[in-house]
Amino acid sequence: MSFHPLMEYGAGHHQSARVLPEEGPAFQFTAANLAKLEEICTRYPAERRKSAIIAALYLAQGQQGYITLSAMRAVAAAIRCSTAEVEDIVYFYTMFYTRPMGKHIVMVCRTLSCALAGAERVTETLSKELGLRPGETDANREFSLLEVECLGACDRAPVVGVNDDWHECQQPEAAKALIDGLRAAGAGSLTGCHLKVAGE
Ligand code: FES
Repeated sequence: MSFHPLMEYGAGHHQSARVLPEEGPAFQFTAANLAKLEEICTRYPAERRKSAIIAALYLAQGQQGYITLSAMRAVAAAIRCSTAEVEDIVYFYTMFYTRPMGKHIVMVCRTLSCALAGAERVTETLSKELGLRPGETDANREFSLLEVECLGACDRAPVVGVNDDWHECQQPEAAKALIDGLRAAGAGSLTGCHLKVAGE
């Protein structure tokens, strides 16, 4: 069922942004990232070093922009676990990208609270503004548009994320302004915001 009568729901609109990872260029953590990872590992008991796999993947993704097979092997070597264990995590969590993404990754939550509050209209507006369908990245790698599951701010639906920046209670006009701001001032236009609700 679609909450938006005009959307071609199920016709590829919700396509996954994920593809099987490529081998990619030989990946090595920078010395700084390796040191950071070692520091993170000290927060866990030695026999629980695998608890730092997600942190290691974030470091690899921050360094390279996305996760390749080569990066997964580097994570496994740094954590001292099997590559299969790293793969399991990459394939499970949608925040790990397996192909190059845009500088600004625009994510619209499509889970129930946001869907009921009009997320599909927001997605439709963003799609039109960016000329992208969910799952796509533009040729200049400026923007990627994704539909994602719950972003954890359901009481302020619909929620749009841009990289690490959350924008809540988004309606189509606000979503358009968000893109205008990014085009005009880049990441400087982002506020790291959580919408201030009157009385809070
Ligand atoms: S349902 Fe959208 S943030 Fe939870």
